[in-house]
Parts: sequence; structure tokens; C-alpha cells
Amino acid sequence: MKHRPASLALPDWYDDLFTAMLGTPPARAVAAPALASEVARLNALFLTAAGSVDPIPSYLSGSASAAAYFAYYATANCLKLTRPLDELRLSGFFETRTELRVLDLGCGTGTALIGLAAWLERHRDTLPAISGLHITAADKANAALAWTANVHAFLTGRGILGAGTLATKHLDLNRQVVAAGEHDLMLLMNVANELATPARMLDWLASQLAERGAVVIIEPALRLAGRALLELRAAAVDAGWTVYAPCFRQSDCPALERENDWCHDDVLWTRPAWYAVLDEALGNVKHSLKYSFLVLNRHGATLGDALGASQPRRVVSDALHEKGRTRAYLCGETGRFSCMRNTRDAGDANRDVDVMQRYDVVHMDHEHPREHDVQIGADTTVRRLIP
Ligand SMILES: C[S@@+](CC[C@H](N)C(=O)[O-])C[C@H]1O[C@@H](n2cnc3c(N)ncnc32)[C@H](O)[C@@H]1O
Repeated sequence: MKHRPASLALPDWYDDLFTAMLGTPPARAVAAPALASEVARLNALFLTAAGSVDPIPSYLSGSASAAAYFAYYATANCLKLTRPLDELRLSGFFETRTELRVLDLGCGTGTALIGLAAWLERHRDTLPAISGLHITAADKANAALAWTANVHAFLTGRGILGAGTLATKHLDLNRQVVAAGEHDLMLLMNVANELATPARMLDWLASQLAERGAVVIIEPALRLAGRALLELRAAAVDAGWTVYAPCFRQSDCPALERENDWCHDDVLWTRPAWYAVLDEALGNVKHSLKYSFLVLNRHGATLGDALGASQPRRVVSDALHEKGRTRAYLCGETGRFSCMRNTRDAGDANRDVDVMQRYDVVHMDHEHPREHDVQIGADTTVRRLIP
């Protein structure tokens, strides 16, 4: 098996942002035991909340806990927007816009704004300039709005974000009574799992979405949060939404059939040395970023159509490189199935199997369906559709 290099890395200005937000450079900040112990407290809080139906107590109002959230969670979470935005771009979503109205719901310490700014900067040479980036950041915690405003001030001050505006809005997604205006892109990162009944916000989201807009929902890759996201997906499809990605089918998600299944991405990242100090204090080794996501819209666009390939499939498990064979689960229009290639059948046509990773999108020709799986033979073509 050949390893593909880590595809995610923080932007080179991230340490400066961290320093501006916490008042201390990251390497010095993480050496303070108080920061690590606050991260550990938050970690325990999130894990307890993930297994409970009780609402999570608020955790961003204290400056120490907001700083800990920023240092550990915003740092890793901001990169989780990369694949959803990369895949959304394939539909021409960004190419056709010079103005972008973004609604960041549950903005926390500015995670989505950081991720979006880093993504737009990375694509600056190939995307038409967005002359107006209008962000509305909303949260039920006032402290979150203040952190996001400071992130925005840093990004505009450094010229990372071009012309545009930021509005902050106090909003409770459990009530959804506030009009936030029409938006092209709505981002909900790690907030759905904190809501009493996430599906209840779908109508409201639809009312705030521009005609060809998109909603990106990202959730932790934990079993309960992941399954809740799949239930939200099912409710959305019932309510007339289209799943743009990651799925290549609109009908029921096969992962909901069995209690222990859920579906998530897992991408290697370049973990900063200072981040490893926090990881160590937690007893974690976060070499990769795990998360589940959904990109939804109201106008019927799908990633499958954007790719223009017949029968695209998503790799929904790790690729297991066993002695003599490689196995993986794939999911497409017809559902999820196990797929296998004997190493003796490896060749030019199917060499992408050697580097196949979770959440890759592949196209296969001349596959061999068998009773319990699909065999990739020497004559089967396997091609990764998204580099
Ligand atoms: C886990 S944090 C996520 C922050 C950020 N989006 C991220 O991914 O790092 C969840 C955020 O959602 C906010 N939140 C929770 N319930 C909410 C609600 N009912 N209405 C609005 N915001 C809410 C919290 O205050 C917090 O800022």
C-alpha cells in the first residue's frame, strides 16, 4: 500500500491568529497547565454530552474555557470544511459568484470563518475574486459572537479576507424566530448535536437560503452524533432537500440500518508540534481529523451530476490492505457493498485501489458482482474521480 501525504494543514498565519486571540503564542500557551486542564474539562464535558439526552451546559462564557475551545477544537475543526467546500466547488458554486452571503450558525470561537478564509485563500489563484464576503455569525452565546468578531478583525486586518462585512446575531436555534436574511452558504459546524430537535430547524434554514444556496453541516464522528446526522439527512430528504454530498443516493442511508453503524470522513493533517502537547495532556493522538458532514440544497444539484460520471461511489470505510487482498466498503446509488481486489489482479487499470482512502470518490468499470461482495478483477478499471 502507498500512503498519500497528509492533505490538511493549518494556514501559515494560524499561529499569528492564535497569538492575537489568546494573547500568547501557541507554543507558550500550551505550556501553561491551566490551558491543558481546561481542554481536558471541555473534552470530558463533550464526551458526557455525546452520550446523554440532557442539554450540554454552556461552556464559552468563561474566557479560560473559550480560550481552551479555540486552542484545541477550533484549531482542528476549521480544517474540516475543506472537503465539503472542495466538493461544493465542483458544481461551480463559487465560480459563479462575486458576492457570497454566509450564515455561520453556532459560530463558537470563529471556527467556520477561519476555515472559510483559509479555503478561499488557498483557492485565490483559481477562483474569481469574491468582492463582497458578507458573513453573519450567529450563536446563542454572546461570548462566541465576540470571539468571532475578533477573528474577523484579524482576518481583514491582515488582508486574508477581502472586502466584506460581518454581522453578529444572538440567535437560539431551538427557537429559530429570528430572521437572519437570505444566504448563499450556511455553515453549521458541531452545533446540530447540541440542539434539542435538529430537524425542527430545516424549514427555517430553507427560508433563509438563497435560491441556489447550500447548507454545510459538520458533526463530530461519534456514533450518536453521526447517527443523528443521518436521521437529520432522512428528515431533510423527506422535507424536499437534496443531499449534494457525501451521498450518491437520496434514499435511505444504509448506515441507519444497524445500530452500530454511522458514516464519517477521516483525513490526515499536519499536526502542529504545539498541538501535540495538548493531545498528550488529554491522552489523545489526533493524527487525523474525523468528522461527518452533509451538504444540502433546495435546487436539486448533486455531486454526482457535477462529476458527470455514471455510478460514482464513495469509499465509506478504511481500505483494508490484507495479505493478498484489499477490501473496502463503497456506497452509491444502489447502496453500500463490500468490494475486494486480490493483489494478483493489481494492475494499471485498478492501481487507484493502492492509494484508496476513506471518503474518496471512485468510478469502476467491468466490476464483478458476487453473492456477498463485488470483485475488482484484473480487467476492472477503478479511477479516483476527485484528486
Ligand atoms: C461545539 S461548538 C461549535 C463551534 C464552532 N462552530 C466549531 O465548530 O468549532 C457549538 C456552538 O453552538 C452554539 N449553540 C449551541 N446550541 C445553540 C442554539 N440552540 N442556538 C444557537 N447556538 C447554539 C454554542 O454556543 C457553541 O458556540
